[in-house]
Amino acid sequence: MTNRDALEGLRIGLLGCGNMGGSVLRAVADALGSGDALRVFDPDPDRALSLSTVTGATVEQSGDAVLAHCDVVMLACKPQDAVAALAGLRWPERPLGLVSMLAGMRVDRVRELVPEQVRVTRVMPNVAALVGAGITGVLATGDDELDQWTTALFETCGEVVTLAKEEQFDALTGVSGSGPAYLFVAMEALADGGVRMGLPRDVALRLAIHTVRGAGVLAASTVDHPAVLKDRVASPGGTTIEALAVLEAAGFRSALIEAVTASCERSKDLA
Ligand SMILES: NC(=O)c1ccc[n+]([C@@H]2O[C@H](COP(=O)([O-])OP(=O)(O)OC[C@H]3O[C@@H](n4cnc5c(N)ncnc54)[C@H](OP(=O)(O)O)[C@@H]3O)[C@@H](O)[C@H]2O)c1
Repeated sequence: MTNRDALEGLRIGLLGCGNMGGSVLRAVADALGSGDALRVFDPDPDRALSLSTVTGATVEQSGDAVLAHCDVVMLACKPQDAVAALAGLRWPERPLGLVSMLAGMRVDRVRELVPEQVRVTRVMPNVAALVGAGITGVLATGDDELDQWTTALFETCGEVVTLAKEEQFDALTGVSGSGPAYLFVAMEALADGGVRMGLPRDVALRLAIHTVRGAGVLAASTVDHPAVLKDRVASPGGTTIEALAVLEAAGFRSALIEAVTASCERSKDLA
């Protein structure tokens, strides 16, 4: 059985129809080919309704109604709303799966807020889930069925990495959670360089964005290490090795390593 098969017949709920919850639900609905199995709730009825329009999901009038109908429910409110959201719910007696998308909230903390029979797990998607090109960290809980459901749900919006230990979520946040922002800055700076050397802004930005995208697609499509790919484009005495020497002198690698470390430490603090 593939992970995708695990979604067959599964009744899936979503609490919180904002950016991330909405992106994941749209991808799940696309993969299922029908919204019949989907139930959603958001305190803003218009937000729930517009998600329902594109996914075919049924809008419920309360979180309780979502829980009553579903096998697994994704929680996608903001972390600061989570305590109120979870504490106010009426949970069914059966062992419902709860997939928390909340950044920085430990599974043990979520467990304190729900009854014992609820099977809790945690994921950390990134913003590229919006376009089906995300990468999501999924916790290995030891509950094989729940882990398979969760993996299948998040494979609909990109790649999934399973983490054996929850402490690793902080480091994952530093790499892939915050990582898109580092690359947006890199795109902007590449374009600035092009403008500095005479390119029109729109041309420079297009070159920068597609260079980052192309490098990512290439690196993901081969078993070759990125260092090997870099060596291939740095010919002796050429332009690229000159530029790489400048990046080394400016501490490009150590800046990225320190950025990941800072994000990871902040994630630990927030938790
Ligand atoms: N965005 C990202 O890139 C990203 C990446 C990784 C993880 N996450 C996590 O994903 C979660 C959602 O983030 P987001 O950016 O999608 O936030 P968002 O756009 O603000 O969406 C959150 C939604 O949850 C709703 N909500 C509030 N209380 C609720 C309740 N009791 N029951 C059901 N829904 C409720 C909010 O409604 P109101 O606006 O009316 O309060 C809002 O529509 C966060 O926990 C965040 O840490 C986000």
